[in-house]
Formats: sequence, structure tokens, C-alpha cells
Amino acid sequence: MVMDSLLCLTLFFCFLCLSLFPPPLASSALLFQGFNWESSGKGGWYNSLKNKIPDIANAGVTHVWLPPPSQSVSSQGYLPGRLYDLDASKYGSKDELKSLIASFHAKGIKVLADIVINHRTAENKDSRGIYCLFEGGTPDSRLDWGPHFICKDDTEYSDGTGNNDSGEPYQPAPDIDHLNPQVQQDLSDWMNWLKTEIGFDGWRFDFVRGYTPEATKIYMKNTSPDFAVGENFNKLAYGGDGKPEYNQDAARGELAKWAESGGGVVTAFDFTTKGILQAAVEGELWRLKDSNGKPAGLIGLKPENAVTFIDNHDTGSTQNLWPFPSDKVMQGYAYILTHPGTPTIFYDHFFDWGLKEEISRLSEIRMKSGINEKSNVNILAADGDLYVAEIDNKIIVKIGPKMDLGNLIPSNFKVAASGESYAVWQ
Ligand SMILES: *[C@@H]1O[C@H](CO)[C@@H](O)[C@H](O)[C@H]1NC(C)=O
Repeated sequence: MVMDSLLCLTLFFCFLCLSLFPPPLASSALLFQGFNWESSGKGGWYNSLKNKIPDIANAGVTHVWLPPPSQSVSSQGYLPGRLYDLDASKYGSKDELKSLIASFHAKGIKVLADIVINHRTAENKDSRGIYCLFEGGTPDSRLDWGPHFICKDDTEYSDGTGNNDSGEPYQPAPDIDHLNPQVQQDLSDWMNWLKTEIGFDGWRFDFVRGYTPEATKIYMKNTSPDFAVGENFNKLAYGGDGKPEYNQDAARGELAKWAESGGGVVTAFDFTTKGILQAAVEGELWRLKDSNGKPAGLIGLKPENAVTFIDNHDTGSTQNLWPFPSDKVMQGYAYILTHPGTPTIFYDHFFDWGLKEEISRLSEIRMKSGINEKSNVNILAADGDLYVAEIDNKIIVKIGPKMDLGNLIPSNFKVAASGESYAVWQ
């Protein structure tokens, strides 16, 4: 009897603990970027994306990243002003957005808002004739800021009474002073409104190079997102021949440091892996193994903080600022979908390039094999024309044109997926 009630009590406390402290979520997240640079011009993007949810869900996607939701001077949303005004967006109305998010939730997919807060466009001029009077977009005075909220060294707009910019300057719009506690409070309130009122679950932080990661840490703490990733678009080291250096420790170290300073929970887009990978698939696959025998990007250093991707609305799409070689995109997906970190599938590749089936097959293998952001990579070959790695002793992936693999693949492994210059064994 005593034992029984003891057991009962123990079980009760276990249950209590689990409900109070659930195990960390998103341990094997898969991200999907649900727009490109032209989406805002298509008319009714929120509604059209809704029709794509079944395919996105079938690919095992856990989180979808939507474009910036607020009123913006530029149609894509990256020059926002009235942050609470979600009806002036070129992607659709606030109600359409809420309905889209609810439809993703119905399939168990969480939704990330693109948080553009480094800068903000003002609605009105002050007595000096300068555009520095902001409006929140609500009947009350939420987010109705003045020039005091602009970084002091952004002399074009500020009244000189704020703090200097805590990050890199941004030319096209006033830089917001993220060291101002009122800014931190007001933006946290707005993000929590995006969660409770609109249904968002997490964040993709735009241009985080523009302000201190200490501010990101505060926004993370104040809003407890289910998942968050920052865009720290940093540069690789390049040699005199115009190619990336072999050693990219500085670039990936900067990303790791940013995530750590941001509180350690926030993740960073792995621009290092992207840069190395897109050079590597051009006959230089030796780049994928660092001097410690590990993956050469952020995933070889802090995989739990790395979000891998092939292209996004800036690097690819119609801006094409730093595109992955278009004929080798599937080799890229074969790499990121079998490796640690949190991979991202880009809308264009999935829906516009006819790669839906191939990408979905790889993501299915990832899910079924339990590959996650911290999986172990054992690199078996990294030459110019061949890269082979075993992940978690469960799958083997090969990329590169070389067909003769000698006896690298144990006979108990069977081909589970293959395509132009890549294969995966299980
Ligand atoms: C702020 O920036 C200005 C202009 O770059 C500079 O002259 C000044 O020393 C900075 N102030 C502080 C406290 O860093």
C-alpha cells in the first residue's frame, strides 16, 4: 500500500514535471521559406500559399517562414513603418494572414514572422522637415515614436539624444536605437501581439548585423518563441583567386558568437556552409571537410545553432545576389537534408523548379532515420569530385560526379534516394 501510493505520487510528480517543463521542442525542425522576392507582386500571396500547404506538410516541414507582415514603403515588406498595420501588406490582409496561419497550424506546422526591426520608416515630418515621426498603425499611440528613438549617429534623422547605433548602419531608413529600454519594451509588446493576436509561433530576425545581439537576447527572453533564426549575412574569407579560402573559421566563428551573445537559444542562418558548399560542388568537394575532419561550416562547430539553406529571396530569386550553381542545387539539398543543423527548403526550388519530389524524398529519409540538428558526421571521402559521409551510423550520402566508390559503401546499406551526382544509402 505504501509502495503503491509512493509509486502513484512519483508518477504524479513526473507528470507534473513534464507538463511544467516539457522537453525542448523542434529537436528535428525542418524550415520552409514560403515566399520569394516577387511574391508581393503576385496578388493575394497568403491565399495562394494556402493551397500549397498539403505539399509543404507532406515534405515533413515543421516551420514555415512568412514575409514581413506589416505596412511597408517597399512592397516586399523590408521597409516597414506602421508595424501594427497588417492590412496594408501587398501579401494580403490581416484576416487572410490569420487564416493562412491557422491552416498551417491545422497541419501541425508552426509559423515564423520576418521581424524587420533594425530600421523603420517614419510616417510624418517634424518641425525640422525631417521624416522622423513614426506611427504604430493603431488608434492608440502604440509605437508612435519620435526622433529620440533613432540612433544618435544616424544624423540624417535623429535629434541626437539617443544612443549611437549598436550595429552596422542601414542607409535607406532611420536606424532604431535598440539600447533604448522603451524600444525594447515596445517591440517586445508588438512581437507578443503577433503571437497572441495573429498566431505566429516564432521569428526570423532580419539584418541582425544592424544591432547588438544583446538586444536579440532581450527580444528572445521577452517573447519566448518556439523557434528563432537570425540573418547575420556575413562574408566568407576569399583568396587572391577570387575563391573562398579553405579555412572559414572566422566566418563561422562570428555566427557562433552572435548566437551565443543572443542568448544561445537563437539560431543563425549558416551562410558559411552555403558559401563553402556552392564552391565545393564545382569540383572542389574537399572544401567540405575542415582540418579537424568535421563539416567546414557552422554545422561543424555549433550545429544546434545552425540553419542551413541553399538560397533565399536575396541570394537567389530575382535578386540573385549570391546564387547557388543552378544545375547543382539537388547536390546542395542532398548535403543539407542529410547533415546536422536545421535545413531550409526554399519555395522556388520546391514549387517552381520541379524539385518537389526529389526534395521530399530526402526529407523523408531524414525524418525516418531520425537525423536531427546535432547528428554526428563521419566523413569517409572529401576529394575534388567525391564527398561521402556517414551520418549517425544510419545513412550514407555521396555527392559529386565520381561513380566508382570502391568499397566505401558497406554491403548492408541499400540505395534509398539518388539523382544527378548524389545518392543516399540506408
Ligand atoms: C557616436 O558616433 C559619433 C559619430 O560616429 C562619434 O563621433 C562619437 O564618438 C560616438 N559616441 C560614442 C559615445 O561612441
